[in-house]
Amino acid sequence: MQLKIALLPGDGIGPEVIDQTVKVCNAVAKKFNHKIQWMHALTGASAIDAVGEPYPEETHQVCINSDAVLFGAIGDPRFDNDPSAKIRPEQGLLKMRQKLGLFANVRPTFTFPSLIDKSPLKRERIEGTDLVFLRELTGGIYFGERGRKDKGSTAFDTCTYSREEIKRLAKKGFELAMTRSKKLCCVDKANVLESSRLWRETVQAMEKDYPEVKVAYEFVDAVAMRLVQWPNSYDVLITENLFGDILTDEASVISGSMGLMPSASIGEDIGLFEPIHGSFPQAAGKDIANPLATVLSAAMMFEMSFGLLEEGALIRKVVDQSLSEGIVTEDLVESFSKAYKTSEVGDYLVGKIV
Ligand code: IPM
Ligand code: MN
Repeated sequence: MQLKIALLPGDGIGPEVIDQTVKVCNAVAKKFNHKIQWMHALTGASAIDAVGEPYPEETHQVCINSDAVLFGAIGDPRFDNDPSAKIRPEQGLLKMRQKLGLFANVRPTFTFPSLIDKSPLKRERIEGTDLVFLRELTGGIYFGERGRKDKGSTAFDTCTYSREEIKRLAKKGFELAMTRSKKLCCVDKANVLESSRLWRETVQAMEKDYPEVKVAYEFVDAVAMRLVQWPNSYDVLITENLFGDILTDEASVISGSMGLMPSASIGEDIGLFEPIHGSFPQAAGKDIANPLATVLSAAMMFEMSFGLLEEGALIRKVVDQSLSEGIVTEDLVESFSKAYKTSEVGDYLVGKIV
């Protein structure tokens, strides 16, 4: 099969974890007789530095002319510490999500048996955790009206959702639930927010189309609590953009390291695959970042964008092997004796793909 993949390394540790992932993908392609055409493009602070904007039109063209996008990370402290900056790397990510119509962010959280004791939570609370968040990604407070009034001394951001936006996200949630344990949790704040009441009303009206799915409605504050108490009681969760942003960071540490969790952003057409961690600037260029979240994002890409399930499964298998054999970067090293470099972990994975 011919696979055309846009490659957007981005900022910080992005290029390093992407390099290892490309090595792994090429090894998989060789084994299964695929041909990958990598289309390189700029995003984030590196794009601002090069051409003055974080998601240049040229990058957009590369993305829409590819079958999938593999993305590293975005963000740079030079911009974080300057609230008056007009152009920010993160705007590139938001623009990319919007222009590519990526309205659903799929963020799984699962545990690895060899890392169970690395989790900040007790073993009995997390064993068996295997949940997926579907976070709405192109609406809500991220994209609502915002501004200043009272001569700049008051600021506002608004959360707006249409029934259609909720419906298309919820549909993906119901469909995913049907392929799993048929449990869906709608996370909202319907006791306070009008937009949440529309979420609840819309999802309730869809229940009749999926009679086998058991839907629970829970408030976001309660979910934040239960996620650390009994994460293994959840399966598929759907929620709006900001709630999803916060809860998926919370959920990501359950596995033992944020450097392990992959994600996919999907919508009408092309899919984008990225680790859920950020650009981790303190580690950039040191060859110490954990590449596994990006490698696992590539597994999701093989499965979801190309329907190549065996290829995805092989990647997951070699990642499991690296963890159980202790070939891991320093974020996981407490459980093991020696820390390996980012590139050494990549080499190990490639060596196992034969
Ligand atoms: C994420 C990130 C982004 C978000 C930032 C970088 C804009 O935190 O992908 O979760 O808030 O969506
Ligand atoms: Mn986030």
